[in-house]
Order: sequence, then C-alpha cells, then structure tokens
Amino acid sequence: MDGYTLTHKTPTRKDFLDTADFDQSEIMDIINTARTVRSFIKGGGYLNSLFHKNLAMLFEQKSTRTRVSFEVAMEQLGGHALNLAPGAIQLGQHETIEDTAVVLGRMCDMIMSRVDRHESIEALAKYAQVPVLNGMSEKVHPTQGVGDMITILDHFPAGKNPSDVKVIFVGDATQVCNTLCDMTTKMGMNFVHYGPANHKIEDYWLEVGRKNNEKYGGTCIWSDNAEVLKGADFIYTDVWYGLYDKETPKEVYMADFYPKYQVNDEMMAATGNPNCKFMHCLPANRNEEVTDSVLDSPNSIAWDEAENRLTAQRGLVLYFGGVAQVTLDYIKRQKEVR
Ligand code: CP
Repeated sequence: MDGYTLTHKTPTRKDFLDTADFDQSEIMDIINTARTVRSFIKGGGYLNSLFHKNLAMLFEQKSTRTRVSFEVAMEQLGGHALNLAPGAIQLGQHETIEDTAVVLGRMCDMIMSRVDRHESIEALAKYAQVPVLNGMSEKVHPTQGVGDMITILDHFPAGKNPSDVKVIFVGDATQVCNTLCDMTTKMGMNFVHYGPANHKIEDYWLEVGRKNNEKYGGTCIWSDNAEVLKGADFIYTDVWYGLYDKETPKEVYMADFYPKYQVNDEMMAATGNPNCKFMHCLPANRNEEVTDSVLDSPNSIAWDEAENRLTAQRGLVLYFGGVAQVTLDYIKRQKEVR
C-alpha cells in the first residue's frame, strides 16, 4: 500500500462497533487513510471531503479526548459535529435508544456514541440507517484502538518485524485492554496481559488474539508472573477503576493492584529494554497505576497517543463516510502538482 490506494475502495461494513469485526486489511485501510491525511494537514493542506456532513456525538458518559477529537476531525474535513452530552436530549427520559437512532439517522450522516452498555451501540447500529461508530462501551474501545495502533506504528522499534514486537498491557483488563489484545495480534505482534488473576482478560479475548495469531503471527497470553515484562517494547496501562466500575472503593482496587502492577521506574527497568515505550489511554490517576516519573518521562508516548485520537478519527469518519479513497486521490493529485 502506497498510502494512497486502499485495499477496499468502499467500507466493508456500515458500522464500526468492534475492531474484532474487521480483518487486518480493513483496519490498515483506516490507518493508512488516517496517516496520509495527517501528513497532508500537518503540511498545510486543506480538505473539504465531508462538506455539509453532520456527525451526531451521543454521550452517555463524560469524555475529553473522544469528544474533542471527533469534533475537530469533522471541522477539519469540512463537516460539523453535534455534541449531545449526557442529559442534553430526550434519550433516557421519554425516548428509547431505538427511536433516538431512527431520528438521528434521518437528520445526520453518521453517529458516534459512548454508551453505558454495549447493547445500546448495537441497537443504535441496528435502527439508524447511517454508519454508527463506537466511542466506547464496557466491552471495547475501538476508536482508541485505531489511535493506539497508529501510535505503535509511529514508534515502531527500528529493525524489528511485528512478530518480534512485544506489547504488554498491565493491570485491570479494561475495554482498552480487550481492544489492544485484538489490534496487536491482528498486526501479528505478541500481546501479554500482565495483571492479577481476579482481573484477568476474558478467555474470549485470548481466543480472539490466538485466532489472529494463526492468521497473522505473534502470540497472546495472560500472566501474573513479572518474568513476562522482559523484552517488552511497549508497556500500556489504564486506570484501576473504570468509568464502568465507579462503585469499586479505592481501598479495594489499590489492594488488588498496588504495588505489583503500578507502572513505575522499576517496572520499566524490568523490561531490560531502555527504549521500551510507555502508553496510557488517559485520563490517568497519577501515582496510582502509573507514576509521574514514567508518565512524564522521555519514553512516555501517552501524549502522542492522545493526539493520535484525532489522527484516527479523521481516518474513521472518512472511511465510514465512504470518501476515504476519493480523499486520498485528491491528496495524491495535490502532491503531484506541487
Ligand atoms: N481515552 C479516552 O477515551 O478519553 P476520554 O474518556 O476523555 O474520551
């Protein structure tokens, strides 16, 4: 792929609910679109591919990165985003998710939603006649996963093949962990969930990862043995209580994870790799799951990762808006005439 030619000229599915629904070539179409558009925009180029197109952003929970990145992406591509924050519309009061889906689908060109329960994003996709993108559920965080893979590729260890690369997710098996398991193994890398047995990644996701390994290479395991840290290229963590587990008291989750699963200087040193990068989907609970010294270190790529949410969202709205190939053709022509 030259960065301008997609394997699939049009979206292979209407909706983006879970990265596990897509194969490597489909995900790489989105990533290649996103990276080519990023360099064009960073180079001073302007795009209008989504002129007059509207994205409804329906949030059942708070968000900084997902909300801002989708809104900025739509504006940069000539379109518009509507922020339908929790409590802002009739949903959850007098109107069902199904009826909301039909109405938003009649007025808008795409819907992105962060939902309390995964069934809600499936209902939106079923009842809306326009593409629906999952801005996070308790099960998966696919738009985060695209940005994360872009970040891993941006910082890919020199001279290595994907099957030599080890990505370790440390701590609680959150929806970010599930999606990272799918994305890294889909790219033929080695994925490890290093966490306590009572917060272990579900066998379902280990099976998803192993099926990917059969097709693309790499490995997929869970372990609570610190030996697995050796040779890591990327250490990734997330908060120890998520948006979906607010009821977990701090003393309970601290007892489960601290100090063994805190990403600190000692854990980074235990990788034996001075170039090992640190990733976090953010927001972080500083000095709980990660110390300041790691999050703010030169090896931390968490801020690039946050910025790549915007990179990813541009690729996603172009791809699911059905205008990715035409946009890449335009960028190629612009480069040729310069
Ligand atoms: N990582 C992430 O999804 O951030 P927000 O909750 O701020 O959108």
